[in-house]
Amino acid sequence: MQGYKTVLRQVDTSVDNLVDDPAVEEAAQLLKSGEVVAFPTETVYGLGGDATLDEAIARIYEAKGRPSDNPLIVHIAGIEQAKRYADDIPPGAEQLMNAFWPGPLTIVLRHNGSLSPKVTAGLDTVGMRMPADPAALALITAADLPLAAPSANRSGRPSPTSARHVYDDLNGRIPVVLDGGETGVGVESTVVDATQTPVMILRPGGISQEELQAVVGPVAVDPSLAFDQSAKPKSPGMKYAHYAPDAPLVLVDGDAAFFAAVVHDAKAAGKRAGALVFEEQIGTTGAEQEVSLGPQADPAEAARRLYDALRVFKRSEVDIIYAVTFADSGIGGAVMNRLLKAAGGRRVSAEDSN
Ligand code: TXA
Ligand code: MG
Repeated sequence: MQGYKTVLRQVDTSVDNLVDDPAVEEAAQLLKSGEVVAFPTETVYGLGGDATLDEAIARIYEAKGRPSDNPLIVHIAGIEQAKRYADDIPPGAEQLMNAFWPGPLTIVLRHNGSLSPKVTAGLDTVGMRMPADPAALALITAADLPLAAPSANRSGRPSPTSARHVYDDLNGRIPVVLDGGETGVGVESTVVDATQTPVMILRPGGISQEELQAVVGPVAVDPSLAFDQSAKPKSPGMKYAHYAPDAPLVLVDGDAAFFAAVVHDAKAAGKRAGALVFEEQIGTTGAEQEVSLGPQADPAEAARRLYDALRVFKRSEVDIIYAVTFADSGIGGAVMNRLLKAAGGRRVSAEDSN
């Protein structure tokens, strides 16, 4: 489905009111005519379309090359706008909106049937979020539409954290990429199901379980997210590839010495190795290519760098990528969740090899 001459349109982020920005206006007009547009959010870039229009949603799936069996998040510019599409707002959801919007939290609510059924994949619920990026809010406001938007990557690839990533994946497949610079959070929003009590985390992300608990009390976690389940060393791999870099990725549980030993063994077997490690390990791994996720003490920096780092490795240069692991707390839990998916569950542990 080539056919577009994709243009990158810079948004002047120094301006206070972006609703009148010419790039935002042009993108809003495209959205009103049923087209799709890539835009920045504080988490990752999204590929947006009119959430009330079947045809726009079909275009999103087509551009991404993704099967339409997964519901899309609907982006709104305020709590009042969200309420127009929800059937019922439980008290917990109201508290979450007041505390975390605008921000990286998607709240799943019962919908009232006014959105395209293609957005919700036929479910009776919809995930909504008010993004914090000023260009995103201006775009939603200028288009005067709820925007359904998945991450603006080709299906299976790491999510885009810059307009260049979007362009690399979707050039020729969409008309416009609004360029608002690099995203701040770097991993997607936390998805919370607010139709049940206690609310349940369905996807870890930019807002941690600890932060949610401080506002609404106890928070459940979808059992399928349990680390030891998805993380079994010889897991048969997952159904779909997610966030996949160019070369296979393997997670390494252990200290810097164990990491270097794993790389050493790979090289002895004739493989060119890549290493996705903490800043402190740069120069110690022995890998052909090393990429830093920032200081070990700063998982938020790792979140910002993760998807760009996964895009840096090329199969032409490395045969295998080894990556460090993160503890399941704060935003490190979201980074670890994405790394596990990128690795398809492949993991080696110092404890197993003792
Ligand atoms: O940060 C983000 O959330 C980004 C930016 C662009 O906003 N968007 C994003 O969309 O990550 P996507 O389509 O890549 O991921 C949507 C996630 C999926 O895990 C999907 O299953 C879940 O949200 N989701 C959406 N609607 C849902 C619903 N009604 N019930 C349960 N899960 C839902
Ligand atoms: Mg995605």
